Amino acid sequence: MIQPEELFKKVTAHAKEYGFVFQSSEIYDGLSAVYDYGQNGSELKNNIKAYWWQAMVQLNENIVGIDSAIFMHPKVWKASGHVDGFSDPMIDNKDSKKRYRADQLLEEQIEKYQKKGKTDKAEQLEADMNEALNDNNLARLLDLIVAHEIVCPISGTRNWTEVRQFNLMFSTQMGSVADDADTVYLRPETAQGIFVNFLNVQKTGRMKIPFGIAQIGKAFRNEIIARQFIMRMREFEQMEMQFFVRPGTEEQWYAHWKKARLQWHLSLGTPAEKYRYHDHVKLAHYANAAVDIEFEFPFGFKEVEGIHSRSDFDLKQHQDFSGKKMQYFDPEINQNYIPYVIETSIGLDRMFLLTMCNAYKEEEVGEGDKIETRVVLALPPQLAPIKVAIFPLTKKDGLPEKARQIMDELKLSFKCHYEEKDAIGKRYRRHDAIGTPFCVTVDHESLENDTVTIRHRDSMVQERVSVKDLHSIIDQQVSMSSLLKKLL
Ligand code: GAP
Repeated sequence: MIQPEELFKKVTAHAKEYGFVFQSSEIYDGLSAVYDYGQNGSELKNNIKAYWWQAMVQLNENIVGIDSAIFMHPKVWKASGHVDGFSDPMIDNKDSKKRYRADQLLEEQIEKYQKKGKTDKAEQLEADMNEALNDNNLARLLDLIVAHEIVCPISGTRNWTEVRQFNLMFSTQMGSVADDADTVYLRPETAQGIFVNFLNVQKTGRMKIPFGIAQIGKAFRNEIIARQFIMRMREFEQMEMQFFVRPGTEEQWYAHWKKARLQWHLSLGTPAEKYRYHDHVKLAHYANAAVDIEFEFPFGFKEVEGIHSRSDFDLKQHQDFSGKKMQYFDPEINQNYIPYVIETSIGLDRMFLLTMCNAYKEEEVGEGDKIETRVVLALPPQLAPIKVAIFPLTKKDGLPEKARQIMDELKLSFKCHYEEKDAIGKRYRRHDAIGTPFCVTVDHESLENDTVTIRHRDSMVQERVSVKDLHSIIDQQVSMSSLLKKLL
């Protein structure tokens, strides 16, 4: 049994060693909180996206997808409240010169009290912190940090600055002449691209409420405390869906999406006890109800996805700021109104990390003095980067040609990988480590009777099957429809 702290280190190292995730610009010592996905990582990421996209857009007749630009008119961010309200309370330690999120320092202190069994103190501090955050009372946050004798983890001192708000949006200039250039922002969420296109999609798609618009895309936040690998990044990807409903029905749809989204996670086979809901106490500036779906990462339960009841806040704001009507005419009740919105918003990178942490296993295999440890990524087969590896037993006697022939057929449907180097056992281990669900070995018997050995990743069971049956054996386990069926 791997201990949680150890598991996280192992997953991080494994992600790099096996081509899943690299630090951005590594040869220049990296760029903090920015990462690149490698050859296996980008396949896994694409498969997660496909599962989400198909679950949203293919299974629901009333949800369509879009792909809006990262740059948007600067007024969008004024209207959405991000220019004035999208900030974190920050505090600096004067000795170490390190900057921290004030609320995170307090949350860590609450955790410390809880671990020491000082429940009353923990509860009181949590209540005080929530009150200060809700009132945007920065002086009170500093008082709490001082009163609870919180020290800087680097310098060990309590020499703090005041608490200040720090906006998380990245800005840049658009236009060739610096003086005339407009300040534009790298979007901090994909949702606004959906809101501003609400009527374009509704009219051109003749959509009737209730309906949804889904989008997958990059988002950017100048996170001050960026840590825990790809958990909190400065450039990341979101998968968001805005569901437009008739005012008065939002509670019912909030409950619907809260349940449906957890079901999407559980259908991947992750144990239910690894997930929990966490209702928000402090609501974002746009929300009137919000819940997080949290997963038990090796460093504790953390948010992967948020479901937010955003009322008519965003559309109303865009109507006010743009002067364009954002209303919908509802033929069933013969009324014009601005729809209410339920949003589901999941971080793709966090989902990736969750999938890796959940899949990483070390197992003792073999017998007697031949016991060894195999590292296996027990990924859901539908998400695995490579679905089938094809090995000729040797490099001669026409086996490579036969193996290539089989691969040419299978690669029309599945991502395959051909390997002829090293002993079969070594080739199995390499594919266990990247989560390949099937390995197919072509031997001399294959030339005689058109059969091969198929080896299953998790059970390590090998069976002799006819080449003509390979496609259906593999397809049953790796096809996205086998996953989607669980959502119906
Ligand atoms: N449109 C709503 C919205 O953006 P959010 O809770 O700020 O809500 C949604 O973000 C999801 O995006 C989070 O649940 C998380 O999975 C992911 N996310 C947010 N900030 C992130 C970051 N800095 N790095 C990686 N993922 C992040």
